[in-house]
Amino acid sequence: HSVAVLGAPFSKGQKRRGVEHGPKAIRDAGLIERLSHLDFPVQDFGDLSFQHLEEDEPYMHVLFPRTVGRASKLLSGAVGNAVGAGHTAVMLGGDHSLAIGSVEGHAKQCPDLCLIWVDAHADINTPFTSPSGNLHGQSVAFMLKELQNKMPELPGFSWVKPFLSAKDLVYIGLRDVDPGEYNILKDLGVQYFTMRDIDRLGIQRVMEVTFDHLLSRKQRPIHLSFDIDAMDPSLAPATGTPVNGGLTYREGIWITEEIHNTGLLSVMDLVEVNPALGASREAVESTASMAVDIIASALGQTREGEHAASRTRR
Ligand code: ARG
Ligand code: MN
Ligand code: MN
Ligand code: MN
Repeated sequence: HSVAVLGAPFSKGQKRRGVEHGPKAIRDAGLIERLSHLDFPVQDFGDLSFQHLEEDEPYMHVLFPRTVGRASKLLSGAVGNAVGAGHTAVMLGGDHSLAIGSVEGHAKQCPDLCLIWVDAHADINTPFTSPSGNLHGQSVAFMLKELQNKMPELPGFSWVKPFLSAKDLVYIGLRDVDPGEYNILKDLGVQYFTMRDIDRLGIQRVMEVTFDHLLSRKQRPIHLSFDIDAMDPSLAPATGTPVNGGLTYREGIWITEEIHNTGLLSVMDLVEVNPALGASREAVESTASMAVDIIASALGQTREGEHAASRTRR
């Protein structure tokens, strides 16, 4: 198989400037070079160009609905094309509102996909529960069939029809969940692992239960949506909504190694790297390099060196 890298320099799902430079920071940290050492061809499709809309008034208190809707629609098409052409796709954000388009485009090609959302946040607010009005905290609500009648018709989003069931979703790394989100998670019976659950069970058991939940009935494509703020802020400080007490380096890499080992990873998002928010150049570089390590590991970079079969192929 081959890997397609898609840059999505987009920031209107939240209020802080700079997250649109995430794709450049991740490439500058050596992503393509690193992936070239793995045993598949890599094609960098460059950055999408998102349209700037002059007129985009808030709807209720939701910010930039038309801009976010338009961007996600463009990304949906790009991810759909990449998957349709047989690539494993890697989407570099940009903020997490992009996942609406990324997962939707993936689901058009692979209607039976499942979704693993690695994040400090659940991003499952509806416009009614959102405390901030930021769409990057609402992405999952657009996807779930069970939330269909809880969602208003937002301008810019008429093209999105809910396509995912709550049972096809697992969260890992949660530690900052809003009250409305908590109610939704409980009402829908979503499988989730907070940092406290990881402390109790260990990350190895968490991944076992995740795959039991998603894959025990049938093997199917995995969409991994990885928000860099899932990692502890000591490892990934340059992000818009950091929360203390996150994943250790080894927990983060264990998650992606285990996902790689299923052989089912089909699309991955790496979002919320914001180079404008590092306190220093080192802070930005360590965040971007964390992102590269996560992506490389999800795509098969191991901690035990390479096996002979992959060596002889080069
Ligand atoms: N729950 C908060 C909100 O709805 C924060 C969301 C943060 N999301 C993110 N993708 N970093 O605004
Ligand atoms: Mn987050
Ligand atoms: Mn997120
Ligand atoms: Mn491999």
